[in-house]
This record gives sequence, C-alpha cells and structure tokens, in this order.
Amino acid sequence: MSDNNEKFHEYDGIIEHDNPLPTWWLWTFFLTIIFAFLYYIHYQLAGGGTLQDELKVAMAQLEKEKASVVDTSPMETEDSLKEAFGKDGILAVGAQAFASKCAACHGQELQGLIGPNLTDKFWIHGKGTRMDVIAVIRNGAPDKGMPPWGPVMKKDEIYAVAAFILSKQGSNPAGAKPPQGEEAP
Ligand code: HEC
Repeated sequence: MSDNNEKFHEYDGIIEHDNPLPTWWLWTFFLTIIFAFLYYIHYQLAGGGTLQDELKVAMAQLEKEKASVVDTSPMETEDSLKEAFGKDGILAVGAQAFASKCAACHGQELQGLIGPNLTDKFWIHGKGTRMDVIAVIRNGAPDKGMPPWGPVMKKDEIYAVAAFILSKQGSNPAGAKPPQGEEAP
C-alpha cells in the first residue's frame, strides 16, 4: 500500500524513500561508463597490447638483460684458459679433485674404467682443447654416465682438474682403456 506522497512509499509497513542518488555515487557510475568506453576503443579498435603482447615485451627485456650479464663477464677463450691453467700449484689442486671426484670412473691414472681413458688423443666430446674439456666437465654427458660438474664444482676447481687432465696427455698409463671417440689432430 502506498500513499500519494511522492517522496516515499510504504509497503507492508516498510517505508521506502525516493531520494535522489548522491552526486559522488552518480559520478563514480558515469566514470565507469566513460572508462569502459575508452577501454573498448583502446584495446578493441586501436590495437592496444594484449597481455600476451605485454608478456612478449617483458620476456624480450629479460633476454636482453641476461645477454648483457653474460657480455660483461670475462669470456673464456683458449688463451685465457691457457693462462689460468698455468697458475702455480694448480696441478696439485687438480690431482686432489680428480682423485676424490673422478678417479672412481676414470681410474687413478686416468687410464679409463667406466669412463674413457683421458690420457690419449681420442675424445668423444670435442677435440681435447681446454675449452672442450671444461665444457664436458661442466655439462657432463648425463645419458652416458658422465655427471655434470658445473653445478657442484667451483670454476677454479674445474679449471684445476681440467689442467690436471691435460697435463697427463700422453702419459700412457698401464691398463689403459682402448681409444674411444675420434683422434684429435
Ligand atoms: C659416474 C662416473 C663418472 C664420474 C664420477 C666422472 N666421469 Fe667423466 N665420464 C664418464 C663417462 C661414462 C664418460 C663418457 C661419456 C660419453 O660416452 O659420452 C665421461 C667422459 C668424460 C670426459 C670426456 C672424455 C672424452 O673422450 O670426450 C671428460 C673430460 C671427463 N669425463 C672428465 C671427468 C672429470 C674431470 C670428472 C671429475 C670431476 C669426471 N669425469 C667424473 C663417467 C664419469
């Protein structure tokens, strides 16, 4: 039941006023409409970037930053390694690391056991350059039973053990495993 007063009506004893909406509320409402309108124009008609596009940009930025980090770290070259491998006392450090971490598979005298002989000129991975040797030590050949040592050994230790291996080239130990891989020139 309602009465004739336009400012409110009553139903079952509940009075409902007919006040105008507050200005702040109306403006919020209008702004959402304006926003939706602009949003639609920007993204649907004007080719605004989608989330996928934004992700692509962010990934490209990340790749760029990664590359610049690599760029600023000193690059390893055969020459820089030659110098590093020539450090005093490095072979003793390498011999110790080899005995504790590598000899079980490559033999105390590097003659080869589970892993290949490391004293001959035959290499499965690369051609036996300093770069090749540290690469296979770091990355390993996990599917062939050579563990990757990059994550567990420090750079200096990898250098030392590689220098030690290369110092044993041509040592011709007793019981050497037959050549595997290709002969380096
Ligand atoms: C669990 C056994 C195992 C251990 C431990 C191991 N290796 Fe190996 N290693 C292998 C096997 C197996 C291969 C041959 C992989 C292939 O056939 O591709 C290999 C290959 C290599 C090669 C490449 C040889 C070639 O002919 O190209 C080098 C260098 C090498 N290991 C160095 C090391 C060093 C240094 C360590 C210790 C830090 C080490 N390995 C520890 C099993 C091992």
